[in-house]
Amino acid sequence: MTWEELEKTCKECTLCSLSETRTNCVFGVGNREARLMFVGEAPGEKEDLSGIPFVGAAGQLLDKYLTAVDIDRDSVYIANILKCRPPKNRDPDPEEQDKCIGYLREQVRLIRPEIIVCLGRIAAMRLIKPDYRITAEHGQFVKKGNFTLTAVYHPAALLRDPRKKEDMYRDMLKIKEFLDGK
Ligand code: URA
Repeated sequence: MTWEELEKTCKECTLCSLSETRTNCVFGVGNREARLMFVGEAPGEKEDLSGIPFVGAAGQLLDKYLTAVDIDRDSVYIANILKCRPPKNRDPDPEEQDKCIGYLREQVRLIRPEIIVCLGRIAAMRLIKPDYRITAEHGQFVKKGNFTLTAVYHPAALLRDPRKKEDMYRDMLKIKEFLDGK
């Protein structure tokens, strides 16, 4: 599948009921040749309205970390496990994830990033392992086939608990060092 076919199919998707309540499908944004891909959970209100991932408060905090460790937002690709917003931002349910994950899989196949960074527990449980414990395992690198995977705290979790910010900075620095080949 080409990017154009994939994006069109995704935007017309009616595989689950979230398609009935979405304003926009939030496909993904960024560099299609990215070495680094971020994967979040699901669009929130601002993302649903704009059609762009991570544009709300959590996204603005993510941008600050990218700037802090000198990673250019234009060099990365950002997507979510779910492409449509769950009502009231509830957790994505497993069935919704199963129906939607194919789009992310195709995005990964087209981009072939060197490292995939899960933003938060939901993405890490889906992409790294079902029993992933974000508090204990964030920042650890895992090799899966040709990819390196890691997870960091979800920026929304940092807004709720600023004590996690130091860990986030350290994890983001590690990701930058990986990209720099250190
Ligand atoms: N939270 C997510 O997980 N993804 C977004 O796109 C926005 C907020």
